[in-house]
Amino acid sequence: MSEGISLNLSLSMGLLVLFLLLLCFHESCCSSMYNLKGHISVNRRVDDLLPEIPPSEAPQPFLPLLAPSPLAPFTNSTVPKLSGHCLLNFTAAESLMSMTSIDCHAVFAPLLANVVCCPQLEATILILIGQSSRKTNMLALNGTLAEHCLSDFEQILVGQGAADDLKKICSINASNLTEASCPVKDVNEFESTVDSSKLLVACQKVDPVKECCDQICQNAILEAATKIAMKASDPLNMEGHNVLSDHSTRINDCKSIVLRWLGSKLDPSRSKEVLRGLSNCNVNKVCPLSFPSTKHLAKSCGDNISNQSACCNAMESYVSHLQKQSLITNLQALDCATLLGTKLQKSSITADVFKLCHISLKDFTLQAAGNQESGCLLPSLPSDATFDKSSGISFICDLNDNIPAPWPSSSRLPTQSCNSSVRIPALPAAASAQSGLYNEALKFYQLFASSAILLMLI
Ligand SMILES: *[C@@H]1O[C@H](CO)[C@@H](O)[C@H](O)[C@H]1NC(C)=O
Ligand SMILES: *[C@@H]1O[C@H](CO)[C@@H](O)[C@H](O)[C@H]1NC(C)=O
Ligand SMILES: *[C@@H]1O[C@H](CO)[C@@H](O)[C@H](O)[C@H]1NC(C)=O
Ligand SMILES: *[C@@H]1O[C@H](CO)[C@@H](O)[C@H](O)[C@H]1NC(C)=O
Ligand SMILES: *[C@@H]1O[C@H](CO)[C@@H](O)[C@H](O)[C@H]1NC(C)=O
Ligand SMILES: *[C@@H]1O[C@H](CO)[C@@H](O)[C@H](O)[C@H]1NC(C)=O
Ligand SMILES: *[C@@H]1O[C@H](CO)[C@@H](O)[C@H](O)[C@H]1NC(C)=O
Ligand SMILES: *[C@@H]1O[C@H](CO)[C@@H](O)[C@H](O)[C@H]1NC(C)=O
Repeated sequence: MSEGISLNLSLSMGLLVLFLLLLCFHESCCSSMYNLKGHISVNRRVDDLLPEIPPSEAPQPFLPLLAPSPLAPFTNSTVPKLSGHCLLNFTAAESLMSMTSIDCHAVFAPLLANVVCCPQLEATILILIGQSSRKTNMLALNGTLAEHCLSDFEQILVGQGAADDLKKICSINASNLTEASCPVKDVNEFESTVDSSKLLVACQKVDPVKECCDQICQNAILEAATKIAMKASDPLNMEGHNVLSDHSTRINDCKSIVLRWLGSKLDPSRSKEVLRGLSNCNVNKVCPLSFPSTKHLAKSCGDNISNQSACCNAMESYVSHLQKQSLITNLQALDCATLLGTKLQKSSITADVFKLCHISLKDFTLQAAGNQESGCLLPSLPSDATFDKSSGISFICDLNDNIPAPWPSSSRLPTQSCNSSVRIPALPAAASAQSGLYNEALKFYQLFASSAILLMLI
């Protein structure tokens, strides 16, 4: 079986990242990257595992610019100034809200945005509106209320330590709390239009692995959204402003209504599981990185590679641009490898330059500057950051070592995590690497923390 060891690395700053090192001793446990659930995890304090760090090697204090410590808000939450006009019951979703604050913590929000922070933020808003509909019978806020509520929501999160530019980071605005172009917002009308019991059965519990392939709940949501969107063809149903929206936009807006309805039928923590499970399918499907032009690479690596080191230098310099962007999941890294490989092939690079230059999946995620072993791939299942007073903010990394990035081949279909016949490339034997592991992880942490902070300052 697999054994995971998580290290608590406590630094002078009080900032902390938890690493889950997955050590796989059997091929089976890693045959699918989804298969991260149910491993045996052994939690030990780092003090037990690491030799004393001599004072000279103790991490240097971080940049004084960061004062006060990013954790201060947690240890002394500021009381937010609320508008007094928002009717959402924030207390009903208190634990969700504080989890969102941690997931979107000021220091990490930009790095965790795509995988952890924004999906959690969106789920929380859907659930808040869903829960409030139990009282108001409305699955949407009007424009005025939406402004007040989004502002209050933000104030509360910021008061608990979240980044203050979440609207920008997660591209969310007040219109995301309204019905937008969806013609149905009334709960009774909703329930008389869609087959709500069928919807509930399909979505009351979502298996985050199976759902992405079977799409049982997603199909039920699409069906319901399409049905209520059809009401737009009835002119009596429409308020003037959204008659003009096209059909696919409307269906999309109606999906939010459907999700809010689910958020009203399930309790908040169950809703969160469902909503994060659903959004996670989309998260893992897409490589979120932006790729610079590969023109320069084509020069060094195109046709017959005459100078391998020139080609690999160019590759290294290219991926270093990708490594400054964000933390991604292991499946996203696979998407990114496919995307880059395809791009390179289109610019007439035929040789497997990933293999030639030892590019691994970890090379696609955020790295600490100047260190090869410093990538952190997030798990492909929905995950949250955690906070505790003594150790600070933690999140889980899947440090599956150095899985080579697969070079896309025309005979193979694009990576389909659903397809059980597609296997993640085999892992190297892990046992031999064990002795150096803990120090490696510590080094990683130090570099990573400082690079995270540097990134904030840019
Ligand atoms: C923390 O909050 C308490 C009251 O809740 C206040 O008395 C104290 O001054 C605050 N400390 C800091 C450092 O802001
Ligand atoms: C908000 O929710 C909490 C917990 O569910 C409940 O105790 C409280 O009465 C609600 N407040 C309002 C104004 O509905
Ligand atoms: C928005 O909704 C609130 C509460 O339902 C109501 O008091 C207010 O008049 C509405 N505003 C508009 C512009 O419809
Ligand atoms: C929200 O953003 C969309 C574009 O993403 C824009 O069309 C809309 O006007 C914005 N709404 C508000 C209320 O700012
Ligand atoms: C918010 O609404 C805009 C359109 O107004 C949409 O493009 C965007 O995806 C929405 N954001 C979320 C997080 O739903
Ligand atoms: C590449 O090498 C092959 C054989 O090794 C040769 O036939 C071909 O002409 C070469 N192409 C270029 C552009 O040098
Ligand atoms: C290959 O490229 C490297 C630097 O990119 C250069 O130093 C070296 O001289 C080149 N080798 C040959 C044989 O051209
Ligand atoms: C799964 O992959 C195999 C080969 O890799 C392919 O033949 C098959 O059609 C795929 N199935 C699905 C459902 O994509």
